[in-house]
Amino acid sequence: MFSANTYQNRRNVLCEKLNEGIILLPGNNPVPMNYPSNWLRFRQDSNFLYYCGLDHPHLNLVIDVKTSESTLFGDDLTVDEIVWEGERTKVSEMAQLAGIEHWLPSAELQSFLKDHNNHIHYLPCYRGDQQIFVDGLLNGQSKGASKELIQSVIQQRSIKTDEEIAEIEAALQVTAEFHKIAMQSTHPGVKEQSIVGQIEGHALSEGRRLAYPVIFSVRGEILHMNEYNNVMAGGQLALNDSGAESPLHYASDITRTFPVSGKFNDRQKEIYDIVYDMQEAAFTYCAPGKSYKEAHLEAATIAVRGLKKLGLMKGDVDEAVKAGAHALFFPHGLGHMLGLDVHDMEGLGEDLVGYNEDEGRSDQFGLAYLRLAKNLEPGFVLTVEPGIYFIPHLIDQWQSEGKHEAFINYDALESYRDFGGIRIEDNILITEDGFRILGPHIPRTIEEIEAEMAENNA
Ligand code: GLY
Ligand code: MN
Repeated sequence: MFSANTYQNRRNVLCEKLNEGIILLPGNNPVPMNYPSNWLRFRQDSNFLYYCGLDHPHLNLVIDVKTSESTLFGDDLTVDEIVWEGERTKVSEMAQLAGIEHWLPSAELQSFLKDHNNHIHYLPCYRGDQQIFVDGLLNGQSKGASKELIQSVIQQRSIKTDEEIAEIEAALQVTAEFHKIAMQSTHPGVKEQSIVGQIEGHALSEGRRLAYPVIFSVRGEILHMNEYNNVMAGGQLALNDSGAESPLHYASDITRTFPVSGKFNDRQKEIYDIVYDMQEAAFTYCAPGKSYKEAHLEAATIAVRGLKKLGLMKGDVDEAVKAGAHALFFPHGLGHMLGLDVHDMEGLGEDLVGYNEDEGRSDQFGLAYLRLAKNLEPGFVLTVEPGIYFIPHLIDQWQSEGKHEAFINYDALESYRDFGGIRIEDNILITEDGFRILGPHIPRTIEEIEAEMAENNA
């Protein structure tokens, strides 16, 4: 945990942003896997973690906006429970660790809320059990999640403090090891599953967990591939998108793409260079006041320019980007916020987190998936993750519709159908005068990746 002071300050800042009422922050409970006592591994709610850091199930926090005083609701374990689970920190000690002034048994929460016949602010629920719990507590009298609270939390959590950045960098230390392990262990004939096992095993052996399910595949064009059944072959590319959590559950999110054989072929080098240039171009937009949507569109422009040189696209570059033709190859957004969640605060509403108030989300294919479009501010932590993919289903659909024929050379695409995809992803902090790539350096250039892979084969 951070110090009690950190959590107290966070709650004070939150209360200053709101006018009146009380804030209800439900902690998470264990989720059953297949019957009630067989649980999935417990993950605390990120907002609960942010405001009190207590990493135990069956806790709820109430904050009085006017006084900024908090009450922790929870129960010490009974002897029966200790027989099965062992001891856990007493609720009174938890409250002290988090600088919480009062604590009460869980059974008193509902009457406490009733007595404070006041505006009860709470955040959107993303788990069914959480929604049922909140509805029950409020006796169906709820007016829904509080927009005022949502916006205040987003404002506060968007700006990372030094101690949060240190956590994200602690996550990246282990993530860097994931990526080196993957590069060193990948060879023709190795199963994807074996690499995923090594990554997950490494996380566990370091006492960490994953910030999201590993994406590791020679089918890199499948953006969120979570199956690992292929035996890798020379000539293929492996895409590894994996990130560890820090001890306090801050996320990291890194992607590297490398040749299974250890050496990029000429065609792979050509596409890799374009993606690398997309990321470099995007970095130049990573500074306070710059729009991340502009960064996305600049990356798209670099993609079209490069693909045009290879004869895969044609026509006017700016017109192609404006029309959205690049999205055949770059169908996702350039990046997203990163923090306690890998897509930070997405549960509070993607548009509220990622878009300027006066700017709506595009409905153009590709641009519509951009999670972060707003102007950047010092303290934002985000991903920069351009990619180029050859997605046979999408190519076939667009070709059959004659979509963007003025910009796409469908005939030339034929020989790329089994290329897969390349993504390069790093995590950055927006500083007062630009940006800083977080965490240790992870081989990123073609030369660095080939050297990393060769080291193990020597
Ligand atoms: N790492 C997966 C994603 O950003 O969606
Ligand atoms: Mn990402």
